[in-house]
Amino acid sequence: MLLMEPSLLQYPDWKGHCFLREEVAKFLSEHCRSPVPLKAENMVVMNGCGSIFCAVAAVLCDPDDAILIPSPFYGVITEDVDLYSGVKLYCVPLDSEVLIKAHTYKMNELCCVLQGVNVRAVILVNPHNPLGEIYTAEEMTSFLNFAKRHELHAIVDEVYMLSVFGEDFSFHSVLSLERIPDAQRTHVLWGLSKDFAMAGVRVGTVYSENRDLVQALDKLGNFHGVAGPLQRQVAQLLKDKEWLNEVFLPENRRRLKKAHQYVAAQLTKLGIPYLHRGAGFFIWADFSKYLKEQTFVEELCLWRCFVKHRVLLSCSQAFSCSSPGWFRIVFTDQQRHLQLGLFTICLVYVHMHLHWWYIFCTYAFMLLSSFFRAGQNQGDVRGAPGLQHAAYH
Ligand SMILES: Cc1ncc(COP(=O)(O)O)c(C=O)c1O
Repeated sequence: MLLMEPSLLQYPDWKGHCFLREEVAKFLSEHCRSPVPLKAENMVVMNGCGSIFCAVAAVLCDPDDAILIPSPFYGVITEDVDLYSGVKLYCVPLDSEVLIKAHTYKMNELCCVLQGVNVRAVILVNPHNPLGEIYTAEEMTSFLNFAKRHELHAIVDEVYMLSVFGEDFSFHSVLSLERIPDAQRTHVLWGLSKDFAMAGVRVGTVYSENRDLVQALDKLGNFHGVAGPLQRQVAQLLKDKEWLNEVFLPENRRRLKKAHQYVAAQLTKLGIPYLHRGAGFFIWADFSKYLKEQTFVEELCLWRCFVKHRVLLSCSQAFSCSSPGWFRIVFTDQQRHLQLGLFTICLVYVHMHLHWWYIFCTYAFMLLSSFFRAGQNQGDVRGAPGLQHAAYH
């Protein structure tokens, strides 16, 4: 560990060391199935996709300009784009009804939002957080055409690109398209936090053919760099094609699928509707029947009730969803934690609807949780490598 190439101890190229950008370009060329090899010179490496959202928004927008995003969406992006230049996100609600394909992107609504605001860009997350939705190549093309028509930059976040586990679903990166409608205004994000379960190493990348953007990000890279020795390790990891393709990625997908199947089956048993999708670390589930009234105030009460019972789910408000009662359940955890969490969810329902039952179940719960704790103390509580996903998704 202490043996280090002296060059790695110097100030780096702020876009990321060339050796790492080359490896990321090769890796993404293969996994995105790009028709021509991606170029290292179009690649920028920073300390996470969150930083890239901050930096890209600051470069593309003036203060108080706006960026469009379909909602529900991963809410932290709001703070990311606001941080440097006060850029505002304008949400365009999608329907979150079970069995209605959530990706019916409402072009008309987008056009209404466009009037009177200086909109510079539009963000799409694919695979989607929190819906787990995967967009087809046609849908992505129509999204990119929409951006082109309105001269908007398209920021496509593909950070869950390799976390597609459903056999019926296949992912098409924007970088796989034969022809990107407006390549100069299309910027694709990817990183190690999700697909490698390595949120702690803080590595995110953006691919863009726009030289001005790449040069501007180069300047901001000074504040968002990744340490040289870590860049070397990440490059070595990406180079190990055999292990990645034959061991890590298939095993990661298998475990994601197993955990998803388990939670989905339990939700079905509990009669809680959910979006059945095949990507990401979460299930978007409809708890509206738990609400006394269909309001966000009631949703917050339910969220508090879950927290009081030590279950942390993110509610629809956190994703700017237009209908209350939806919660995101992260399933990338060990089965006994999932079991306990789902059991508690069931108890919360009983608590809210049948008070006398609650007393009985609380006793049962206390007995069961002491049983789980005893099990934890005896067993090896470490997760298998590759599945220790951060709780913060
Ligand atoms: C859709 C999406 N984009 C970006 C991020 C942030 O990624 P990073 O850890 O690379 O900053 C997350 C993290 O949860 C995410 O879900």
